[in-house]
Amino acid sequence: MASQQGLPKTHRALVLTSTDEPPEVKVIPTPQPGPGSAIVKVEAANIISYSKNIYNGTRKYSFPMPLVIGTSGLGRVAAIGPDAVLLEPGQLVFIDCFVRGRDDPGSAFLLGVHEGNTEASKKLMRGEWRDATYAEYAKLPLENLYPLNESLLGSKFEYGIEDLQDISRLLVPYGGLSDIGLKAGETIVITPATGPFGSAAVKVALAMGARVIAMGRNAEILKNLAAKNERVETVQITGDMLADLKSLQAFGMIDAYFDISPPEASESMHFKSCILSLRHGGRVSLMGGLKGELNIPIRAILQKDLMLKGKWMYSRQDVKDLIKLIEIGVLKLGDRKAEKFALEDWEKAFDAAFNSSATGAGAVLVP
Ligand SMILES: NC(=O)c1ccc[n+]([C@@H]2O[C@H](COP(=O)([O-])OP(=O)(O)OC[C@H]3O[C@@H](n4cnc5c(N)ncnc54)[C@H](OP(=O)(O)O)[C@@H]3O)[C@@H](O)[C@H]2O)c1
Repeated sequence: MASQQGLPKTHRALVLTSTDEPPEVKVIPTPQPGPGSAIVKVEAANIISYSKNIYNGTRKYSFPMPLVIGTSGLGRVAAIGPDAVLLEPGQLVFIDCFVRGRDDPGSAFLLGVHEGNTEASKKLMRGEWRDATYAEYAKLPLENLYPLNESLLGSKFEYGIEDLQDISRLLVPYGGLSDIGLKAGETIVITPATGPFGSAAVKVALAMGARVIAMGRNAEILKNLAAKNERVETVQITGDMLADLKSLQAFGMIDAYFDISPPEASESMHFKSCILSLRHGGRVSLMGGLKGELNIPIRAILQKDLMLKGKWMYSRQDVKDLIKLIEIGVLKLGDRKAEKFALEDWEKAFDAAFNSSATGAGAVLVP
């Protein structure tokens, strides 16, 4: 039986009850729109490379349970709250998982993934915006739904859902790169450039007009990155700080350094070689999810007037700007098509995402 605005009474959703048990597809009540929200029919929900380790408790992320899990994705507006003025039913939208407090945007959490670190962000995730996108329908704040110009993206560029799903991956490094004001003509070191977010950073920095020094451990992936673009140089991380610094310095003046290291890289010496390679007044964007504290060369930071900035995700303006870069064709999609999986095949999907390398396909759930 249909309810408000033609939504079905119930829908299928992937529910996590405990990190000691696998998630289960369950039939649950369909969310309903209210003031400030809209319901989307999920077309494709992204999977982070390490999602399986979030939901099996290996990565100690905190979130309330039971929880409909998920993250960013693409959907069609199915029903709107009474105060929606831009969104219309049927529209294709990018679903942004970064939910901010309306009365305090500094209190934010990652939909379906992490409740943030303050009482305020936890309150947001535990209440109104609890359930995420591994479901047929999801309720989102209006401001987390960004309309996509479907006729342009579909007709001119012939992008399908399997291409557009990459917006979510590209957006994360765009947040850090725009935060340090990367400019066309500048040279930036990106490390590790070989993972899903690092390789996205290479692609985005190139679209922003920069020359990229892609740094990482895997020589094969670095070679592939360089082969695709003449503005990409590479440096392999050897573990010898001075040798790596010398390799970086061989490329001349370096304006900026972007880092998106995983927790496993917390002890790596590349942080030091990259910071030391920067020119006077250079900028650093630190986006990696490191464990513990980072040992940094404070004298060089002081003497060279370096700027270090941390960045969690991106701003709302970044989302709009990145979509514009894609819609005018400066940032091209299509080279990283995602494999589609049904909700019931979540385990295969999580494994596919886990095994995806910088050049491999991503994976999405198509509920
Ligand atoms: N700030 C934010 O808003 C934000 C948002 C999303 C994600 N993140 C962070 O981004 C990190 C990267 O995510 P991801 O999905 O791209 O990849 P990931 O699967 O977490 O990490 C894989 C990448 O890390 C490299 N790596 C692993 N161990 C290393 C080590 N000991 N030394 C140097 N490099 C090492 C891998 O290189 P090899 O090929 O050599 O193994 C590969 O490039 C995440 O772990 C998360 O913490 C931050």
